[in-house]
Order: sequence, then C-alpha cells, then structure tokens
Amino acid sequence: MPAHRHIVPARAASGQLTVSESELVEWGEHLGRSSSPPLLVTITGELGAGKTTLAKAICRGYGVGEDVTSPTYSIVQQYSSERSTVYHVDLYRLESSDQLTNIGWDELISAHALVLVEWPERAGARLPQNHLPIDLSYVPDDPSRRILLAG
Ligand SMILES: Nc1ncnc2c1ncn2[C@@H]1O[C@H](COP(=O)(O)OP(=O)(O)OP(=O)(O)O)[C@@H](O)[C@H]1O
Ligand SMILES: [Mg+2]
Repeated sequence: MPAHRHIVPARAASGQLTVSESELVEWGEHLGRSSSPPLLVTITGELGAGKTTLAKAICRGYGVGEDVTSPTYSIVQQYSSERSTVYHVDLYRLESSDQLTNIGWDELISAHALVLVEWPERAGARLPQNHLPIDLSYVPDDPSRRILLAG
C-alpha cells in the first residue's frame, strides 16, 4: 500500500530478493521498528513458508515483549507494545465468514493497532484494500531460502 512503501526495502518490492531465515528475521524486526499504527500487514505463502517466523520478528521489532506464539488454534492472539495493541491473526482454520465476525474482524481492522494476518486470502472481500502485502515463497532446490515479496 503506497503510504507504507517507505518501510519496504526496494529490493523486496521487485520479487528478486531471496532471504535466509536470519535475514528474514532481521528484515522483519526492522519493519516492526519502522511501523506505526494503524497498519495492517498481510503475509501470504504456502504452509511452512515462514509467515509466523516473520510475524514474530515484526512483533519483536515493534516492541512486543511477550513471547509470540502461533495463533493457529485461537485464530487471534493479542499483544501489547508501547506503540499500540498488536493483533496476530491466522485465518488458516477459518471456517466461515460468520466466524470472521465472531473473532471481531471488523473491529480489529479498524483499530488503532498493528494487525498481522496470515492466510489473509481466507478473509475474501472482507480484507481491506489498504494494507501492506508481504508474500513468502519457496526457492526451488534451496530449502533454507525464501523469496520475499513486499509492498
Ligand atoms: N529462509 C527462511 N525463512 C523462513 N523460514 C525458514 C527459512 N528457511 C527455513 N525456514 C524454516 O521454515 C519454517 C517456517 O515455519 P513458519 O511456522 O514460520 O511457517 P508458516 O508460513 O507460518 O507456516 P503455516 O502456514 O503452517 O502457518 C521454520 O521451521 C523455519 O525454521
Ligand atoms: Mg504460521
């Protein structure tokens, strides 16, 4: 999303950047440090691509002191930082649009918060246009690297 472009390194916007896990974590922490609320970040990618790894790093950079765990079973985990509340949302197990309502989706996406969403495609038309998209994909023949696409 254009208003948040400045926090995305140029190389990550071109789809030509591959990162090791430690590079991804370093970048995520930097992104978290550079972010201010309200901000919705979506993280797409196949199973095991590194979405939670990145979300944890963004949280750390944003100032979340608590341990960030995978929200898969609870759908939403809430954390706090001095900057704002942080919602880490994983829609992998979302069963219906009603469930989106039940988890407070409409409130989450309009809150003065940092909202990180894994499997955002499951929100369908209820995903706001105004977000920073990040995608992670596997590198053929190199299990230790991922292609990072952002912005
Ligand atoms: N370059 C890399 N970037 C990120 N993770 C990597 C990389 N190389 C290897 N890995 C490993 O890939 C796994 C990524 O797991 P993670 O839970 O972050 O993925 P995910 O995309 O959240 O999966 P899920 O769809 O199940 O939620 C970890 O075990 C991590 O150690
Ligand atoms: Mg995950």
